[in-house]
Amino acid sequence: MTATITTTLTVNGRQICKAAPAHLSLLRWLRDVAGVTDPKYGCGEGICGSCTVLLDGEPVSSCLVLAAQADGAAITTASGLLEPDGSLGRLQRAFHVTHAAQCGYCTPGMLMAAAAALAGSQRLSRQEIRARLHGNLCRCTGYGPIVDAIELAQDEAADDRGK
Ligand code: FES
Ligand code: FES
Repeated sequence: MTATITTTLTVNGRQICKAAPAHLSLLRWLRDVAGVTDPKYGCGEGICGSCTVLLDGEPVSSCLVLAAQADGAAITTASGLLEPDGSLGRLQRAFHVTHAAQCGYCTPGMLMAAAAALAGSQRLSRQEIRARLHGNLCRCTGYGPIVDAIELAQDEAADDRGK
């Protein structure tokens, strides 16, 4: 018999409490139990980054974390980057402007890695941005437009702080 466990997570500001098999990964819990399908299943082994979410503000591969381990945590997925009125957030807009998404499969994870990279106050060079994306693979874009997007979002945020 499979043991079940009740896990409570705050996902993009909404508290969700669900019972599920104890061995379920955070990725499976989000997608299959809670219906939060932003994070994507790619490799299931912590290599591709398509399942990246923020767990209490830190980027993690949600395929490598048990949902039960995350009990009580705050999870942010790509939908959590939207503005309160539902329009695209700064990073999402920047990805749109620079054509940083082609097939889009890597994009939700890439956005979360980018959000984590830009969370600090230090300005990142293009090389540093690339380094922050080392755990996120993209088969379509060659990474240039993704780095462009993150640079654009970083510049806009700096402009806003200067206002
Ligand atoms: S699906 Fe989690 S890192 Fe690839
Ligand atoms: S846009 Fe297709 S894998 Fe990145």
